Amino acid sequence: MNNARISKLQAELQQRNLDLLILIPGNSLYYLSGLSFHLMERPTVCFFSATEQPLMILPELEQSKAEAGPVDITLISYTEDMESRMRAFSEANTRLNLSEKRIGIEPMNLRTFEEWLLQAAAPGVSFVAADDVVGSLRIIKDTREVGYMRKAAQIAEEAMRQTLPQIRLGMTEKELAAELVVQLLRAGSEPELAFSPAVASGPNSALPHAAPSERKLQAGDLLLFDWGARFMGYCSDITRTFALGDIDPKLRKIYDVVKNANQAGHQAARPGVSGEVIDTATRKIIEAAGYGKEFFHRTGHGLGLDAHETPYIAAGESCPLAAGMTFTIEPGIYIHGLGGVRIEDDVVMTTDGSESLSTLSREFKVIL
Ligand code: CO
Ligand code: CO
Repeated sequence: MNNARISKLQAELQQRNLDLLILIPGNSLYYLSGLSFHLMERPTVCFFSATEQPLMILPELEQSKAEAGPVDITLISYTEDMESRMRAFSEANTRLNLSEKRIGIEPMNLRTFEEWLLQAAAPGVSFVAADDVVGSLRIIKDTREVGYMRKAAQIAEEAMRQTLPQIRLGMTEKELAAELVVQLLRAGSEPELAFSPAVASGPNSALPHAAPSERKLQAGDLLLFDWGARFMGYCSDITRTFALGDIDPKLRKIYDVVKNANQAGHQAARPGVSGEVIDTATRKIIEAAGYGKEFFHRTGHGLGLDAHETPYIAAGESCPLAAGMTFTIEPGIYIHGLGGVRIEDDVVMTTDGSESLSTLSREFKVIL
């Protein structure tokens, strides 16, 4: 499977006139090689060539893992001493003649650390930004990948079903977040979650990126969860907002507006439309209700191995979306000091429409 991805990558590199793409541990390297390493103080650098087998510099202790991987890679390993490390970089340079090559990197991936090591081994070496080379392959998910993402959504929803009955007034957001994390693992998520869950109650729900705090749940609160599981490396990212007892009528009203905006987003998601079209569809509903200023983020983002990746569902995103693309639809309204509502689903574009991978009820629900 991964060798097919390498062939696609090589075609992409040739088309863009790049000789090499350099990656360090992260999701793009995993996507191409099936290998995941923790990014740490020992450098691991992989050179993907437009014409030849990939070559990787790596610590000796990782060599057997790389050898067992699904892709044929030429390995140059180094031991714990610095001289051995520099020899490995020199050897890679001797084989690849780096200063003469057009080399792409992912600027959000490569660290200054690896850049210095490469420059020390190959004076004059230079790089061009090539974020979208692997991105252009990763953006279309095949059936197997969509299956992993559907499973990641199911795990997250099962975890929420198990968490809801545990909710009590007086519990802190942190206590509730801890419960949700336990349930995510129990339901089958990989231990490295898609991201650490947000649990925001009362006025905190009006802060779109609130971290769980010591605030205690109170009657009259909105309670917002933004959580996700990871399965076979793939993420889910779901938000639901609940009411604790009787809530302010204003909050009850914005709930329905956000629910309608979410639905409009789903309806707008058809192959061939752009991210901007879906963004406009949700925003129009919220603006018509008079809350345009209270919806101050984009409608969604791509989802896959990364919890945020291309395509973005936002103003200015004019590229047509195609079958196999996966992204979130997550409109929200946030009233400062009072509370906020967001309803977020994970969606895959199909050949004739779109399918929501997350299916947990979006109806208004009072849980205490
Ligand atoms: Co989210
Ligand atoms: Co999201």
